[in-house]
Amino acid sequence: MRGIRVTGWGISVPDKVVTNDDLSVRLDTSDAWITERTGIRERRIGGKTSEMAIEAGRQAVDRAGLAPSDIDLVVLATTTPDALVPGTACTVQAALGTSGGAMDLNAACSGFVYGLVVSAGLIATGAGRTLLIGADALSRITDWDDRKMAVLVGDGGGAVVLEPVEGPGDLLSWNLNADGSLRHLLTCDHGGYLDMDGKEVFRRAVRVVVESAQRAIGDAGLEVDDIDLLVPHQANLRIIQAACQRLGIPESRTSVVIDRYGNTSSGSIPLALEDALRRGRVRTGDRLLLSGFGGGMTWASAVLRWGA
Ligand code: UT7
Repeated sequence: MRGIRVTGWGISVPDKVVTNDDLSVRLDTSDAWITERTGIRERRIGGKTSEMAIEAGRQAVDRAGLAPSDIDLVVLATTTPDALVPGTACTVQAALGTSGGAMDLNAACSGFVYGLVVSAGLIATGAGRTLLIGADALSRITDWDDRKMAVLVGDGGGAVVLEPVEGPGDLLSWNLNADGSLRHLLTCDHGGYLDMDGKEVFRRAVRVVVESAQRAIGDAGLEVDDIDLLVPHQANLRIIQAACQRLGIPESRTSVVIDRYGNTSSGSIPLALEDALRRGRVRTGDRLLLSGFGGGMTWASAVLRWGA
């Protein structure tokens, strides 16, 4: 049996900071509305998915003490590839000089958790060290005159190196879920802009996060109190708070970065993970609960023991 262990991590966000006040200059909105309804105070804009993925990936490989040629597979979770063809993971592969395969994976905002599970599955059946990246440049598919969407999105990404270990490894449980009959709730056509039924996504998000998180905790043989840190997708602070409350996880055991980055889709969970690591909030042996949801609809949870 071959499991996984996280041995490196990194993030990348564009330099340009856009505050709520900046947005209020051209849109009929306000800092008060955005902060109260979403928890977002500022976001980073101007990113390109490949560039953020390369930078985050390089940091993760460095931190793992590896050379890019030691990487056997690149999995890039993204909803905003640079182009339809080639896959953006191939741009990352070429820039870093990794070995083996490279592929994109689109599960919208659940992409990082989906990518974690896919990578673990490939490692279990023989893949070597895997660079898993979640990166999105939602600013590129956003109509900046649409206040409904413009206030929510940001650009960013993060990466982890997953190494094979003998035995069951650190991915203790997972579930992947989709309900394509709800695909109309969050859409973006080729060449178009993001559109969302925000109220409906909100309502469903809380329910599915709680359900899949509880299932992942149970499948790992744990109780809620055994979870040291919740690392949720960052779409709306009120969704995170409602899910925490229903799960019985105090906000003090949750990583929140939405105030600084907005909704970065596949980038949000690795950004929140890195923030917790940088602040010394994660110790070896801690049990992290990762939970994402988004367009599709897709949703996914995983319990990851921190082995690094
Ligand atoms: O990444 C995964 C997918 N995304 C999500 O999970 C997001 C889920 N949804 C949400 O986070 C929230 O539904 C939103 C933040 C999108 C909206 O918050 P809400 O509390 O559901 O607001 P609402 O859509 O019900 O709008 C309330 C009011 C409306 O005015 P009236 O009808 O009450 O007069 C809107 O027109 O707020 C108005 N409004 C705004 N006002 C200022 C909507 N957007 C804005 C805005 N600035 N940007």
